[in-house]
Amino acid sequence: MIETRFTREFGVRHPIVQGGMQWVGRAGLVAAVADAGALGFITALTQPTPEDLVKEIARCRELTDQEFGVNLTILPAITPPPYAEYRDAIIESGIRVVETAGFSPKDHMPAFNAAGIKVIHKCTSVRHALKAESLGVHAVSIDGFECAGHPGEDDVPGLILIAAAARRLTVPIVASGGIADARGLVAALALGADAVNMGTRFMCTVEAPVHENVKRRIVESTELDTTLIFRTLRNTSRVAINSVSNEVVEILRAGGQFADVRELVAGVRGREVYETGELERGLWTVGQSQALIDDIPTVAELVSRMVAQAEELITAKLGTLVVAGR
Ligand SMILES: Cc1cc2nc3c(=O)[nH]c(=O)nc-3n(C[C@H](O)[C@H](O)[C@H](O)COP(=O)(O)O)c2cc1C
Repeated sequence: MIETRFTREFGVRHPIVQGGMQWVGRAGLVAAVADAGALGFITALTQPTPEDLVKEIARCRELTDQEFGVNLTILPAITPPPYAEYRDAIIESGIRVVETAGFSPKDHMPAFNAAGIKVIHKCTSVRHALKAESLGVHAVSIDGFECAGHPGEDDVPGLILIAAAARRLTVPIVASGGIADARGLVAALALGADAVNMGTRFMCTVEAPVHENVKRRIVESTELDTTLIFRTLRNTSRVAINSVSNEVVEILRAGGQFADVRELVAGVRGREVYETGELERGLWTVGQSQALIDDIPTVAELVSRMVAQAEELITAKLGTLVVAGR
């Protein structure tokens, strides 16, 4: 067992989190993560309405008696979803822990606090982490530049970002981005984190509701097989390289605006990639950590292997490097 402030304060067996994943963070995966002793989050906005979210939470409760949370991602949108209604659905469903991401959780903190919900805010910079801490969140999850999805605009890799955050923050830190195995977990703990968050690694497990072709592509891919879209719009997102992401990058680089890529980037096309396994159908999210992934284990296998190897790495391998000075 690896015990940290995070495992104690969040009452979870292992210092491992499965963060929100659009189209992927559904009840089956989250329940498997919970049963494995890690902390999984259902992705609120994957559900078309707040009522569907309530049903998905209930479905997850039928699959596990362990604690799990819900991710609420607040991003720029032409037609914003009814965030307050999703938040209220989370609260009314009796969820005890929430991962917020994207914009500041400020507007939602009073309601979460009143309900006694612990909030982990996921962000991509030390300044946003400090801001979230000042708002009263219970932990921050910090995504380095390596991560799948939105790495922010500062391009600071986790090796610097987590250590820099650890120097300034007092709440527990969840290191996120680029972590897929025991080496990443141990490194994150060494940098000052109290837990790790993984997206790409959990997406490539038996229980992830993603077509086998996507999982196989992750196994085959390297750290070079992702690209950054929406750089010019300052809404950067790391996705798999394919014909669609290449076209989006080219159009925007040539001075195009969001309207010029709207059809290409439609969320439904991304969802269809996961459903059909047609890898060129749309944008799909993945991180550089795919370079470290070479199998499709069950979530239980993944978590127990990662913890066992991390223990071995800390106690045996790293311990042997320390020798008496001459
Ligand atoms: C398919 C996929 C979808 C994601 N969607 C979301 C999302 O909706 N909200 C969010 O906060 N993070 C999202 N993320 C980011 C993850 O929660 C996590 O921060 C990130 O994957 C960490 O980097 P890693 O993939 O290197 O582990 C997504 C990641 C993946 C792989």
